[in-house]
Amino acid sequence: MDSPATPIRGTGGAAAPLVVIDHVDKHFGDLHVLRDITTSVARGEVVVVIGPSGSGKSTLCRAINRLETIDSGSITIDGKELPSEGRELATLRADVGMVFQSFNLFAHKTVLENVTLAPMRVRKLSKKDAEKRGMELLDRVGVANQAKKLPAQLSGGQQQRVAIARSLAMDPKLILLDEPTSALDPEMINEVLDVMVGLARDGMTMIVVTHEMGFARKAADRVVFMADGRIEEEATPEEFFSNPKSPRAKDFLSKILAH
Ligand SMILES: Nc1ncnc2c1ncn2[C@@H]1O[C@H](COP(=O)(O)OP(=O)(O)O)[C@@H](O)[C@H]1O
Ligand SMILES: [Mg+2]
Repeated sequence: MDSPATPIRGTGGAAAPLVVIDHVDKHFGDLHVLRDITTSVARGEVVVVIGPSGSGKSTLCRAINRLETIDSGSITIDGKELPSEGRELATLRADVGMVFQSFNLFAHKTVLENVTLAPMRVRKLSKKDAEKRGMELLDRVGVANQAKKLPAQLSGGQQQRVAIARSLAMDPKLILLDEPTSALDPEMINEVLDVMVGLARDGMTMIVVTHEMGFARKAADRVVFMADGRIEEEATPEEFFSNPKSPRAKDFLSKILAH
């Protein structure tokens, strides 16, 4: 197979799942936020995580790249257990791109600098190579003409596309997107979803927390429905939306689809 001009796929080829989450539990004090979570994500798979507010979706994402510790169970990425600290943890974080609801760009760096900084520091790319690749990625998300501006000069939708380009610049094996369109004005949501659909079609492994059912139907291989810290249900989007099995999922869908 020809490698694409701008490769975005993680390496590692084997048929084994990229992410394996095995009997994971997590408490915040008395609050049991992740309850016996077991699931896995295959290479190239797009998993949409949905569920009511407070059900543990963000905590799960954060646990996957070690922004949160877990109490028990295990999470492996590409066969490796999550390191707790040090250089190995930095490497793992570089392998897992993360895009948050709030764009989290460096305010005093240009758009291009936002995309080149980590590849230069962590991947040791030369400035020239990092900028070449950075411009390719900005082009890919449709903001190459904004490269010299500061983030505040861009719209929210443009900033979130820069955040996606920035996460891709590290050649991650996986990207986690936690409600990437929730902070956007409605007219900007689609430009970000279109970029995400493109990534999904190109074979990027993605875990996406979103209530955008259009995206889930178009791009997801699987929907994971969480409630009260548990995975209540996992199904293809077609199955899940047309025939949710659990009462919680039925109730949740009736609320979000009522509008
Ligand atoms: N750092 C924290 N300390 C204490 N409680 C937290 C913390 N982060 C999240 N929680 C609680 O954990 C639960 C799950 O939160 P979260 O994972 O953010 O849910 P979701 O993303 O599905 O809305 C919620 O009850 C939330 O209030
Ligand atoms: Mg959340």
